[in-house]
Amino acid sequence: MWPGTEDTEMTTEDLQAALLDWYENNKRDLPWRHTADPYRILVSEVMLQQTQVSRVIPKYRAFLDEFPAAEDLADAPLSDVLKLWSGLGYNRRAKYLKQAAEQVVNEYGGRFPRDPQTLQELPGVGPYTANAVAAFAFNTGGPVFDTNVRRVMYRFHGKASDSELETFHTSIFPPEKSRTWNNAIMELGSEVCVDGTPRCSNCPWRSECTAWKTQDFDTPEVQTQSTFKGSWRFYRAKLLRLLMEHDALPEDRIAEELALPDKYDLDELIAELVDEQMVTESDGKYRLPE
Ligand code: ADE
Repeated sequence: MWPGTEDTEMTTEDLQAALLDWYENNKRDLPWRHTADPYRILVSEVMLQQTQVSRVIPKYRAFLDEFPAAEDLADAPLSDVLKLWSGLGYNRRAKYLKQAAEQVVNEYGGRFPRDPQTLQELPGVGPYTANAVAAFAFNTGGPVFDTNVRRVMYRFHGKASDSELETFHTSIFPPEKSRTWNNAIMELGSEVCVDGTPRCSNCPWRSECTAWKTQDFDTPEVQTQSTFKGSWRFYRAKLLRLLMEHDALPEDRIAEELALPDKYDLDELIAELVDEQMVTESDGKYRLPE
């Protein structure tokens, strides 16, 4: 079919039905789609924030084998959590996740809040993660807006600002089906409306899509991750790994092992991690906190 030859008009209800039907028939079998446990959902979403699905799956399974419930994570030493996190990157996320588990245990008696507003009070949980957890665990989330969803809306609705695209997404979002809808719209973005050349022949929304009609498949600008190797983040991670391997190290040993390039300052690197409570100091030695 050529653009312009499919001149059906789809109502919002038609769009909803078409997407949900497409999802039902095309969804990937992902481990976190088999649970409605908010703790497990939160673990998956935090892992998925910066890391691709195929790399997350084995880490997600291993993490939950070790810490099957929020209580287990809350009670674990950070050093054990960081060991299971290794390979996922952005270690601060692991610390936030542990703090979130502590907050759920200590402030909410081990029961996760059900509404996105309250979920956002947990460390490391922003609007995206709050809506995702509320939707997938309780079917109470609002419309998610991540890189994939943003690209779908940018193409379908037509180029516009983020706030306009979010408003548009909200206008077609069925609140009573937030679980399925949010899964479906993210799946469409990651499997069909992909960056580069989209797979429009598989798209349930093609006939109504601005990008299909104009054949302009531009995508909104995304912040790319800067090169990791040799970066400040790289040496932060290297230092944490070092402390996982050695119980405690004085600064001169860290300097020796880390081989920090001249452009970076070791005192500053250590101070930053101490400030974030990723590292503690006692008796002139640095270690991971208990
Ligand atoms: N990316 C972020 N959250 C996701 C999810 N729940 N499933 C697949 N990819 C995702």
